[in-house]
Amino acid sequence: MVKLSGLKGGRGGGAFAGLLVLLLPVFFPALFKPLSHASPSAFSEWNAPKPRHSRLLNSVLRREYPNEEQKSLWTPLRDQGWRPCLESTKPPSLPENSKGYIQVFLDGGLNQQRMGICDAVAVAKILNATLVIPHLEMNPVWKDSSSFTDIFDVSHFIDVLKDDISIVRELPYEFSWSTREYYATAIRATRVKLAPVHASASWYLENVSPILDSYGIAAISPFSHRLAFNNLSAEIQRLRCKVNFRALAFVPHVRALGDAIVGRLRYPPKADDGNYLREVTDRDNGKGTGKFVVLHLRFDKDMAAHSACDFGGGKAEKIALAKYRQTIWQGRVVNSQFTDEELRNQGRCPLTPEEIGLLLAALGFDNSTRLYLASHKVYGGEARLSALRNLFPLMEDKKSLASSEERAQIKGKASLLAAVDYYVSMHSDIFISASPGNMHNAMVGHRTFENLKTIRPNMALLGQLFSNKSLTWPEFQQAVLAGHKGRHGEIRLRKPKQSLYTYPAPDCMCRH
Ligand SMILES: *[C@@H]1O[C@H](CO)[C@@H](O)[C@H](O)[C@H]1NC(C)=O
Ligand SMILES: *[C@@H]1O[C@H](CO)[C@@H](O)[C@H](O)[C@H]1NC(C)=O
Ligand SMILES: *[C@@H]1O[C@H](CO)[C@@H](O)[C@H](O)[C@H]1NC(C)=O
Ligand SMILES: *[C@@H]1O[C@H](CO)[C@@H](O)[C@H](O)[C@H]1NC(C)=O
Repeated sequence: MVKLSGLKGGRGGGAFAGLLVLLLPVFFPALFKPLSHASPSAFSEWNAPKPRHSRLLNSVLRREYPNEEQKSLWTPLRDQGWRPCLESTKPPSLPENSKGYIQVFLDGGLNQQRMGICDAVAVAKILNATLVIPHLEMNPVWKDSSSFTDIFDVSHFIDVLKDDISIVRELPYEFSWSTREYYATAIRATRVKLAPVHASASWYLENVSPILDSYGIAAISPFSHRLAFNNLSAEIQRLRCKVNFRALAFVPHVRALGDAIVGRLRYPPKADDGNYLREVTDRDNGKGTGKFVVLHLRFDKDMAAHSACDFGGGKAEKIALAKYRQTIWQGRVVNSQFTDEELRNQGRCPLTPEEIGLLLAALGFDNSTRLYLASHKVYGGEARLSALRNLFPLMEDKKSLASSEERAQIKGKASLLAAVDYYVSMHSDIFISASPGNMHNAMVGHRTFENLKTIRPNMALLGQLFSNKSLTWPEFQQAVLAGHKGRHGEIRLRKPKQSLYTYPAPDCMCRH
């Protein structure tokens, strides 16, 4: 189902196949059809999922004492002494003569394509070339054919980067032969097919410059993860961040829908429950009301199958997931060599909706918390969500907050649905994700850049706590609180080889 394909969907070499397996879990931003449209067969695999941690769950639901953690939880992050820092140390300079055109074709979901776009700008800069607006491949899982122009504001993109590189929307007529179809049908001299994963600047200078010199154009595909994070000039690193955090803005209709949703979360239409209106945001000059947390929940079948963990659906579920692994990955799933207990102790199992609910409750969120659910295709459907919804009755999503007319332009378009969730997530007081992956990393990076609160679940700790069936609620809560100190968005500096897009400091942020 998921292939990191080149133009022809062909497989790369062995090393690349290895990477493919490693990358798989991050391929699912998980925006599918609304739950109610899920096919009935999805449910036949289920013996209605029972809560697996009913003791903890019941303690929370019975809890009546006031919640002490609540107060500090909602306070914004303090100033940590870092500011965005995107200005180049050198004066911006466009090369006098472009060396030619760079074309890239990008696989993956929205967040992976986003990183590819940033890298493409950097590569064009390294080569003194002109960038053609990147081509977004149709993803085989989500079948969304939205183009760059459908998702991102192109004029803004070109304008923000105008002093850094030249960008064209389309190739000039003389190069119009250089299309996806052209590269799909034969070996072509202008295609760069073998860029190594995390290639260096000198690799591009040595291997792509000559093609530009000879033909005036180079088409790089595959291109995902094809530019190193190390050993690049400060100027190039800042340019990558500038693309990610400044130049890439969603199209106006996505921003408008996002704003409407954010507004409805902050100013709930029914103000009958004074309880959750008690928080007044200073950001809104006292006019605003509720704060909200975004929960990114990726719990679709692909992910459940790929993680190879036991999610409590019994034998029927086990068989269904094993079958799925066999069909999609011919059974080659790294995790399936481990037992469920081993996987849990290593923190390699995504949290179920029930588990993330217990984590949120232990951190201090309660039934007055407004929760926006990003990406709500959930394996097992609404039944799987019921424990979470019991804990957080004020749980909303795109569908509950926007009418079908408002959603008409994004309906069934995975990338645009993901774009709306990205936008709402960036405007939340707190963001948390139930599983590590591209969306989690994108938010950790972007919110670090803006000094916004982002909770990083301690997966290994939670795995251990959830396997201990004798823990009482106070023990569980105490362990959770202790294990999440310093995991609320505190600055972590990028280590060598780590992604600039997850850790923008210190390359793209300065101390002040
Ligand atoms: C939240 O829980 C308290 C008891 O802990 C209950 O009195 C109240 O009605 C609940 N509120 C909502 C919105 O469910
Ligand atoms: C790009 O242009 C700059 C000057 O604008 C020059 O110093 C550099 O060598 C050029 N690089 C390439 C690969 O042409
Ligand atoms: C770092 O970049 C320089 C110049 O591009 C190159 O000579 C050197 O080999 C690179 N070092 C590593 C470790 O990649
Ligand atoms: C489970 O938690 C209890 C209470 O904290 C502790 O005494 C016990 O050692 C734990 N068991 C395991 C297997 O970790």
